Parts: sequence; structure tokens; C-alpha cells
Amino acid sequence: MPAVDWVTDFYTRTGDWWGGAEAKVTNTDHQRAARVRAHASRAGALWVLELGCGYGGAAVATAMAGHTVTAVELTGRAEHIARLAAEHHVTPTLVRGDFYTADPGTGFDAVTYWDGFGVGSDTDQRRLLNRIACDWLAPGGVALIDVYNPFDWAARHGKREHRDARPGEGYPAELDRLFTFDQHSCTAIDTWWETARPKRRISQRLRCYTPADLALLLTGTGLRLDATHPPLDPDDFSYLAVLRPADQT
Ligand SMILES: C[S@@+](CC[C@H](N)C(=O)[O-])C[C@H]1O[C@@H](n2cnc3c(N)ncnc32)[C@H](O)[C@@H]1O
Repeated sequence: MPAVDWVTDFYTRTGDWWGGAEAKVTNTDHQRAARVRAHASRAGALWVLELGCGYGGAAVATAMAGHTVTAVELTGRAEHIARLAAEHHVTPTLVRGDFYTADPGTGFDAVTYWDGFGVGSDTDQRRLLNRIACDWLAPGGVALIDVYNPFDWAARHGKREHRDARPGEGYPAELDRLFTFDQHSCTAIDTWWETARPKRRISQRLRCYTPADLALLLTGTGLRLDATHPPLDPDDFSYLAVLRPADQT
């Protein structure tokens, strides 16, 4: 059971809705792998730890780029990774579990967390950042973390979205979505339900941080904010934060 109670149910159910279509290695996954290469501080094949890998597309793409990848995932979304790895002839290591307690090893040149940082409280994020700095990163390593942008989410407050089922394309469920943004806690609340079952709603709650807020959050974690970059997909509500050990210039 993870520290935050909605996590397993939300990502398991949405994985059931979308996994049939989205469990594949995409162009974005190859671009994520290229970002790892671009920001690493040493040449050659890298040791990479990916947190919250979902179906495993980015982990497989990173392994295809020649790196040694360990990927951590809590939910059954991880069940897709073995097939993807076999299809692409690579062998990432999967650690199925909660990244707050898992022991995926140490000495990684890069730690990545694509599209997921911000679950739980500031204390939870600090705990994870501290693990990245103290338990996982090699000296000179880099952490690449997608951080949700409060301005993008706030702009969508109150908006709704409807998605038709497209079973032929791997989307079996007809879905509705409601965006809300809690300004007080700077948290995006992203609520989904099957159109036919409007009372059974599930929400993910994502703490959003401006780069200035992120820099404050990092204080005392052992990491510092080195740079930010726009998301790979302009429709993503996030930016990429490049974090490095605080004692390294
Ligand atoms: C929004 S999804 C993104 C998945 C993947 N990184 C991608 O970009 O496609 C966030 C993922 O993080 C996983 N996750 C959330 N909290 C976790 C935890 N404490 N330990 C391990 N995985 C976790 C979820 O199960 C989910 O698969």
C-alpha cells in the first residue's frame, strides 16, 4: 500500500482503459531517452533508474539507446513491459513496488520520473527527492523530472472533456473528465469516470510547482534545480526539471 491512498486504484483503472492502446514505444519515449543522453555528465552507456515507469515505453526506449535500465512501477501497468522489452530485444530490469520503499540499487548516472511527480504532500516529494540524492544517484549524476505546471492546470479549471470509446484502437471505454484546480494548495484535481457510470469517479491529485517553488522544495534534499525545459509534447501540462546534486556546480 503506497503512502497516498488513491494511487493504486487510479493508475490501475486508467491503465485498464488505456493500456491496450498506449502500451507501446512511442516517438516521445525515444525523445525522453535522448534527453537522458543530453543531460548526463559522462559519455558512454549509462545506468538509468526510471521511477513510475507505467507500461514501460520510455524504459524500453532508453534500453534501446544502449543504457542499462532499472524501472520501478507500483501497479499492473508494469505487466506490459516484458512484452515491449521482448519485442524490441532489450532487457530492462523491472522492480515492481512502491518507490518510497523499493530498493532498486544504487550508483545511477540518471534518475528519471516522466509524467508523475507531485503525488502526495510536499513532505512526500521531499522524501522522494532525498532518496534520489542520497540512495540512488552516482556522484555527478542527474535527475530528470517532469513537473506539473500550475499555470497550465489553473487555465483548465472547470473544463470538461468527453472521449468516445474506440475499441478498434484499444480504447474500450467511453469516458468523461473534469479538470479542477485548487489554488490554495496549488493542486490539480483530474477526475475521470465511465460515461455510463457517472457516480464511480476517480481522481488524481497532483501538486504543481512553478520553477521558483520547486527550487524552494529542493532546499535540504541534496538536489538543486539546474535548468528547466519545455515539455516534449506542447499539450502536456508540465515542464522538465533538470536536478543535480547540490554540492556539484
Ligand atoms: C501518470 S503515470 C506516468 C507513467 C509513465 N511514466 C509515462 O510517462 O507514461 C504515473 C505512474 O507512476 C506510478 N506511480 C505512482 N506512485 C508510485 C509509487 N509510489 N511507486 C511506484 N510507482 C508509482 C503510477 O502507477 C503510474 O504508472
